[in-house]
Amino acid sequence: MRVIKAADYKDMSRKAANIISAQVIMKPNAVLGLATGSTPIGTYEQLVEWYKKGDLDFSQVTTVNLDEYIGLSHDHEQSYYYFMNKHLYSKVNLDLSRCYVPNGLEMNASKACTEYEQLVKRVGGVDLQLLGLGHNGHIGFNEPGSAFEMTTHAVTLTSSTLDANKRFFESVDEMPKAAYTMGIKTIMQAKKIVLIVSSADKAEILKRIIEGPVIPEVPASILQLHNDVTIVADAAACKYI
Ligand code: F6R
Repeated sequence: MRVIKAADYKDMSRKAANIISAQVIMKPNAVLGLATGSTPIGTYEQLVEWYKKGDLDFSQVTTVNLDEYIGLSHDHEQSYYYFMNKHLYSKVNLDLSRCYVPNGLEMNASKACTEYEQLVKRVGGVDLQLLGLGHNGHIGFNEPGSAFEMTTHAVTLTSSTLDANKRFFESVDEMPKAAYTMGIKTIMQAKKIVLIVSSADKAEILKRIIEGPVIPEVPASILQLHNDVTIVADAAACKYI
């Protein structure tokens, strides 16, 4: 694991965007695995800025997102598809027919998950997977205790994740209680992984995933076993490392 210490959120975002840009420049038809949440917003903003300056071309890029709430449509404001469209798809020249997010409206979980796994294989696998880190060490919606060998699957969200994400919904009752997520095995098959981490409240978990034992109770600890992981973390998150 390479750890790149960034000064602050903006610096973290620029550094992560630089790595993604390099991937797209080196391989214009790259498959990018993308994440939602507050951490990557600055990274997407930076990519959009460079695209607008003419420095980046996404026309041949394919994107596959990590996860989606079950029951939310693409145009639901809290769906992850909506988030991606708002922060990235609609702002760069990505071809929407190659921007994939698990199908939250498919109620047949085994169909939704099998199709997504097949899709990731069909597009040739993920060249670069961008990840955020949950306070409990989750990646995607792989919550503590998830088996490392899981592929895309349906999960019931834990109370800590419901708590962290309820700010986006009018009330916790409106929040979907389940999601589809790439599994840890799917994530680990990406050729390159970039984990971005920001703020002091992630400092403790960041230390655990880098220095602690590789255990399902800390899902992101598995990244220690991947041969090309770059962690870009801001100074506040790096407090203990
Ligand atoms: C999002 C995702 C989650 C987030 C994580 C951190 O697609 O899969 O694992 O990356 O919950 O979220 P933020 O960045 O909001 O702290």
